[in-house]
Amino acid sequence: MQTIIITGGSRGIGASTARLCASKGMAVILTYNSNPQSADAVVARIEAGGGRAVALKLDVADTASFPAFRDDVSKALAAWGRADFDGLVNNAGFGLFNPIATVTEQEFDGLFAVHLKGPFFLTQTLLPLMADGAHIVNVASATSRVATAGVAPYASFKGGLEVLTRYMAKEFGDRGIRANSVAPGPIRTDLGGGLNDEFEALLASQTALGRVGEPDDVGGAIASLLSDDSRWINAQSIEIAGGYII
Ligand SMILES: NC(=O)c1ccc[n+]([C@@H]2O[C@H](COP(=O)([O-])OP(=O)(O)OC[C@H]3O[C@@H](n4cnc5c(N)ncnc54)[C@H](OP(=O)(O)O)[C@@H]3O)[C@@H](O)[C@H]2O)c1
Repeated sequence: MQTIIITGGSRGIGASTARLCASKGMAVILTYNSNPQSADAVVARIEAGGGRAVALKLDVADTASFPAFRDDVSKALAAWGRADFDGLVNNAGFGLFNPIATVTEQEFDGLFAVHLKGPFFLTQTLLPLMADGAHIVNVASATSRVATAGVAPYASFKGGLEVLTRYMAKEFGDRGIRANSVAPGPIRTDLGGGLNDEFEALLASQTALGRVGEPDDVGGAIASLLSDDSRWINAQSIEIAGGYII
């Protein structure tokens, strides 16, 4: 059974990805940071549908905790009769709006830790458990293509994550490991405090398909990327945005 790890699987895009991967027959290790109840609810929903899932605690900003997390992953895999896993979705994240003129160093460092440093060292830490032929999906953002005032550090680190993705593909290719990034446009989640009606109407008007995205619009695409049907897609950044500002 294909087994994948999704960071930030307790809510939003990660929770959707977990459910839709499970519906394709994948076993899912999802992580939460501050919302164990939400993570448990995702696990319960997957199990109710006959799938296999477990939730583990992980703070992606806390690199010192990664070796212990790898041990937790090993134990979860062992319970399923596995010693390795087949896919990693670096999805966990948060947003904040502040123009460059007023961004604090603390805000900058916090965004860097979660959106670039965390995925880098988490992937490095989990590499020994990654099966040959596995697939990495890094969740980037359309804000790296379209400059959206107020999210400069976030968008810059997401852009860095896209570059890192190509390097992962280059350096892990000899093990048959693929790496791609997906760049969602505006999606209806709690990120950055969520969307108000006025902002949503503006974003919908800027999108060719005339609405903002739903978590399942992205979760379904990630689940497809993780499947064998996408085995020749590698080192790409794929925007999942319904045609946002084209
Ligand atoms: N929504 C959008 O419009 C949009 C657009 C482009 C890209 N993205 C990206 O998509 C990804 C998912 O975002 P979302 O919209 O689904 O957000 P969300 O609904 O707010 O969910 C965020 C998830 O990340 C987890 N998380 C947050 N900080 C974490 C940390 N320090 N360590 C570990 N986990 C952490 C949360 O866990 P807990 O709840 O347990 O704390 C939650 O599961 C992010 O990388 C985001 O940047 C979103």
